[in-house]
Amino acid sequence: MPVKPKVVLSCAASFNGYIDDRRPERLILSNDSDFRRVDGERAASDAIMVGANTVRLDNPRLLVRSPELREERLRAGKPSSPAKVTVTASGNLSPGSAFITQGDADVARLVYCPAGVAPRLRSQLQGLPGVEVISPRQGTGLAAVLADLAERGVGRLFVEGGTSIITQMLAQGLADELHYAIAPFFVSGGGARAVDEASFPFDQDHQMTLVEIRPIGNVALLRYELPTKEPARVSAA
Ligand SMILES: NC(=O)c1ccc[n+]([C@@H]2O[C@H](COP(=O)([O-])OP(=O)(O)OC[C@H]3O[C@@H](n4cnc5c(N)ncnc54)[C@H](OP(=O)(O)O)[C@@H]3O)[C@@H](O)[C@H]2O)c1
Repeated sequence: MPVKPKVVLSCAASFNGYIDDRRPERLILSNDSDFRRVDGERAASDAIMVGANTVRLDNPRLLVRSPELREERLRAGKPSSPAKVTVTASGNLSPGSAFITQGDADVARLVYCPAGVAPRLRSQLQGLPGVEVISPRQGTGLAAVLADLAERGVGRLFVEGGTSIITQMLAQGLADELHYAIAPFFVSGGGARAVDEASFPFDQDHQMTLVEIRPIGNVALLRYELPTKEPARVSAA
């Protein structure tokens, strides 16, 4: 049994490293071709993950958009979209969020939270299609969440943010690939950064491997492979 799925991190950032600004409107850092690329990555995954703050702030649907890609998944015997995954320590997740309400009933909505908040969340979300509230015995550290996802048969996890989730995945050496799309503009006045301050395993002596640079219109996609920690070290046990 694999200890964790293959983890692919994805984000789009401004040239100066911001993935959001301080305005209430959504910041568009990508273009249509890049959104189609991301849709293909979603369709090729078993699950898509975002942190609870991205659910609250951006209200993403996290579904495969292309009808052709959804059809292809159905023909392969899979749900039309991958399972959706989020993690919350506070349990602050609205039953009205698109994460919960959008998508076919066979698209799983997996909510990881500590045991202390699970009963309240279960009573709020109970009976909604596809929803499962999970509190791993080992807590909600991301290695434990990944171990649980692997046990559920998730082989490829596509992680779409935000800052906290991307930072933890990188700092804990849990990611296998990083897809970093750079928008051709700057964000002024601050906002959410692609990664927070942390102790990262990738430094001057342990570099990520650049495997692709792809121009997508005016956006530059950088794709890196990342050495992950040995399975024994990411084990939740
Ligand atoms: N440009 C892009 O590609 C992109 C993509 C996605 C998001 N974003 C941006 O990213 C920003 C959000 O980033 P963020 O760092 O604030 O939020 P986030 O990473 O989306 O979510 C953080 C939240 O997830 C929960 N969480 C994280 N790790 C956990 C753990 N190990 N155990 C339990 N719960 C855990 C906590 O939820 P609770 O607070 O509920 O405890 C935490 O507050 C937004 O501005 C959004 O627009 C940009």
